[in-house]
Amino acid sequence: MMKIAPSILSADFSKLGEDIREVEAGGADYIHVDVMDGHFVPNITLGPPIVKAIRPITGLPLDVHLMISEPAKYVDAFADAGADYITVHVEADPHIHRTIQLIKNRGVKAGVVLNPGTASELFKPLIADIDMVLLMTVNPGFGGQAFIPSVVTKIKEIRKWADELNPALEIEVDGGINPETIAVCAEAGADVFVAGSAIYNQSDRKKAIEDLKAAASV
Ligand code: DX5
Ligand code: ZN
Repeated sequence: MMKIAPSILSADFSKLGEDIREVEAGGADYIHVDVMDGHFVPNITLGPPIVKAIRPITGLPLDVHLMISEPAKYVDAFADAGADYITVHVEADPHIHRTIQLIKNRGVKAGVVLNPGTASELFKPLIADIDMVLLMTVNPGFGGQAFIPSVVTKIKEIRKWADELNPALEIEVDGGINPETIAVCAEAGADVFVAGSAIYNQSDRKKAIEDLKAAASV
């Protein structure tokens, strides 16, 4: 089952609640929350208080993407705030296996994120232990960047491993997803699609979500 996860990074933070309700009514499956610390990535966004504030306004799972150094330190805070998924970058954590256990022990679904320049082999030992892998299709830090096509090879590779080792694994892609690039990623085996600007920069968000879904299912 293919899923769309609008990224609130491209929403209007002065009316965040409204912008979340709109995509929920428009057929979104998850709400993607981009957490940046100005250290692991060159941008600062939001933290646990915002996650806590949006938790009661949507019934959709909150997919919290941590682009922060030392993510293990903040797992409890994001779990307490109401995250349903917490995804951590392999590049940010030398003890990623331990951090995954920490997330799972909190009853939260755990995911591992790979930057475009990181080899998929790094994640292979973790594949049976996690709920999601998130492949960055841009270098993390900002919305509205161009899709990096070389990541498609990694999607195919990971889909193959997942089919053998963890068929329930969700393969999510994030960055530069639009009706053209979503089709390529779906074909390669991704099943959860983050989209920020392709949804929030459109006046009709419901139509934007429908267009993405239609493009992914051909
Ligand atoms: C990038 C973030 C993305 C971003 C996607 O660092 O992780 O989730 O919001 O935005 P678009 O879809 O505009 O590339
Ligand atoms: Zn993201």
